Amino acid sequence: MKYGYFDDNAKEYVITQPDTPLPWINYLGNDGFFSLISNTCGGYSFYKDAKLRRITRYRYNNVPTDDGGRCFYVCDGNTVWSPAFLPARTPLDEYRCRHGLGYSVFEGKKNGVRAELTAAVPMDTPMEVQRLRIKNESGEEKRLTVYAALEWCLWNAVDDSTNFQRNWNIGEVELEGSTVYHKTEYRERRNHYAFYSVNAPVAGFDTDRDSFLGKFRGWREPIAVERRTSFGSVASGWAPIAALRLELTLAPGEEISRLFRLGYAELPREEKFTAPGVVNKAPAHRLLAAFETEEQFENALAELRTYWEGLLSRFSVKSSEEKLDRMVNIWNQYQCMVTFNMSRSASYYESGTGRGMGFRDSCQDLLGFVHLIPARARERILDIASIQFADGSTYHQYQPLTKRGNADVGSGFNDDPLWLVACTCAYLRETGDFSILDEPTPFNNEAGTEVPLLEHLRRSVNYTVTHRGPHGLPLIGRADWNDCLNLNCFSLTPGESFQTCSNFESGKAESVFIAGMFVRYGTEYAELCERIGLAEEADAVRAAVKEMERAVLTHGWDGEWFRRAYDAFKRPVGSSLNEEGKIFIEPQGFCVMAGIGGEEYGRKALESTERLLGNAFGVELLWPCYTEYHDYLGEISSYPPGYKENGSVFCHNNPWITLAWSKLKDGNAAFDLYTRNAPAYIEDKSEIHRTEPYCYSQTIAGRAAQNYGEAKNAWLTGTAAWSFVAVSQGILGIRPDYDGLIVDPCLPDKLDGCEITRFFRGTRYEITVRRGAEKGMTVDGRTTAGKTIPLTDSPVCRVTVTI
Ligand code: BGC
Ligand code: NOJ
Repeated sequence: MKYGYFDDNAKEYVITQPDTPLPWINYLGNDGFFSLISNTCGGYSFYKDAKLRRITRYRYNNVPTDDGGRCFYVCDGNTVWSPAFLPARTPLDEYRCRHGLGYSVFEGKKNGVRAELTAAVPMDTPMEVQRLRIKNESGEEKRLTVYAALEWCLWNAVDDSTNFQRNWNIGEVELEGSTVYHKTEYRERRNHYAFYSVNAPVAGFDTDRDSFLGKFRGWREPIAVERRTSFGSVASGWAPIAALRLELTLAPGEEISRLFRLGYAELPREEKFTAPGVVNKAPAHRLLAAFETEEQFENALAELRTYWEGLLSRFSVKSSEEKLDRMVNIWNQYQCMVTFNMSRSASYYESGTGRGMGFRDSCQDLLGFVHLIPARARERILDIASIQFADGSTYHQYQPLTKRGNADVGSGFNDDPLWLVACTCAYLRETGDFSILDEPTPFNNEAGTEVPLLEHLRRSVNYTVTHRGPHGLPLIGRADWNDCLNLNCFSLTPGESFQTCSNFESGKAESVFIAGMFVRYGTEYAELCERIGLAEEADAVRAAVKEMERAVLTHGWDGEWFRRAYDAFKRPVGSSLNEEGKIFIEPQGFCVMAGIGGEEYGRKALESTERLLGNAFGVELLWPCYTEYHDYLGEISSYPPGYKENGSVFCHNNPWITLAWSKLKDGNAAFDLYTRNAPAYIEDKSEIHRTEPYCYSQTIAGRAAQNYGEAKNAWLTGTAAWSFVAVSQGILGIRPDYDGLIVDPCLPDKLDGCEITRFFRGTRYEITVRRGAEKGMTVDGRTTAGKTIPLTDSPVCRVTVTI
């Protein structure tokens, strides 16, 4: 069953009923100011950092779900309704939510009144603009009272939801015309405030939540709205809000439009006040003046469209598969931007207060983003490398505002360093910008410790070489990619963090997965060394890679598939010798991608993977699921069977298998797996899958789970980047390389060919892939040997590939 449809021309997903199985959200904002917005107008906004600069309040785990957020009320006679259904919950005569690229539109109609609410964060503007158009489609005059309301967060989202003995005293606002300024803590150390404003005189306002809502009431039925009035309350402590009221009279057929603007402003300390206690409103005035008129807003929407058209034109495909095209051309790339911006910080599942930016997460997100805006990728790589330690290990996460490593979680995730090699090499292949390797980059952000970025990569590689266990395989540390395989944890204390505790430093637990990573990214590093004239180092690294390959073949091969790890007692994990958890997906993907054991082992491993782990939604993480808690395995066995790391389809690593099939040139298997969980392909199972049909979720419950097929944790998952890599580089076979663009498609039989446009190093490549008896490639009409289109100066290059 579907709850809407894709409008590919408009690049929108159109939701046609408010009661989607879960809130289906969108992201507004590209750089500093971000908003989450659900299909009923819920969500929140923040500036740069969802924990430290939260602008509006949101209650995770609230009942009813997703209440609050952006509250619009239209009062028409005795009826009060909301254009996006919530919070008023009055059944609408018409409802539609169109989530587009960087904007969302809500269309509601009730009793002859049509409302259209468009929300967007204009480019380079720390402000969400909401345009409300109201049209009287009835035959009589309408007198309407309209409210727009939101609740301020007291900036630090953790304090805001915990430290009430302080919070209830500090809230402060200021009013000026039709603008409410939220200035809590501005009197002391903050130099930023927020504001909410409408571009018309207000009939009244409230800024104290409890006055506006009234006793025993929620956002569904504020007392002010019920009485069609405002109390003019000025918040002092408690919960400051901004509730603006407009009185409108509309003749039959008349339409009016108003702009509501939620903004954020920062000031130099010396300029904070214009009079004692009075905030300097100049930056707010400037922002408001830039979005005072309909035309200014229309221009901003047009600019957003142009921006996205430009970005998406960098890679596109035209094929006979509509769903493939819409994933590749629109939604997968869009999600790559969102994961790049957010890492794992703010979604409807990530509270924005926990994880900040992940080291491995951001490195992987970059793989699907680097072709879009290489300059931002460059900056990110340097930020990430700056939280690394001198011995090559690294903080696992950092806070986006401060860019400092997160000491609470610390380090010790032994896969982390190698991901830096992965993303830097991807950046180099995309851009050819070797100057990044010379960038002075500190360790742990300490001034004076800067070394060239290349040295960080070197230490990453050496970290793996020097941290190996009894079988010569890499030590796993706290965990590798699978955060829940905590082989040194041995926790029996309820509530103890699986991520940070290690009660048994075995020095023995090893990871076959990291070994696969090392073979792959160690090889990439060696190749890089060669290119920059470090032949000796290249040889040494290749030798280490060879040794690692041997260790995998000797101790990491189980007979039918690759083993996953060795535990703290040197016992295999992910082996036929185990009762449960006999096979894991991760090493099958990475060892085959790395080419370990060649085609023979590769095919065996992938066939075992499909046979034992395959389900209708993809490939499960492990089989059989753990049915009991095992302290020597850690968090993985804490999840009920079929959920999360304990045997769901953990979508992130499915593309590894797709890529592995592509490596073995099995286009049918690769495509079949790709389509089993690509959101557009399972749109018609939305009542089972439940999360948004236009973005990937982290997990889909496995066969062992009660709710088999149900997805969770939408949006912020490495699945976005890896799926894009799998489909663009594996299936469609377009791979950026140092010396040119590789074209090596691995299409399923059902695709006769396709047209691909790829922007690469200043040239637009227009590539036609078709089937034919004579394999080969022509570049601008000339037959070209091999699979690499050499670099060129021409702005356009036409390529034909016959497969
Ligand atoms: C989750 C993992 C996640 C980790 C992060 C665990 O509870 O299962 O998916 O990576 O937390 O801390
Ligand atoms: C989600 C985390 O963000 C990621 O870093 C980790 O690799 C996966 N979960 C698997 O545990």
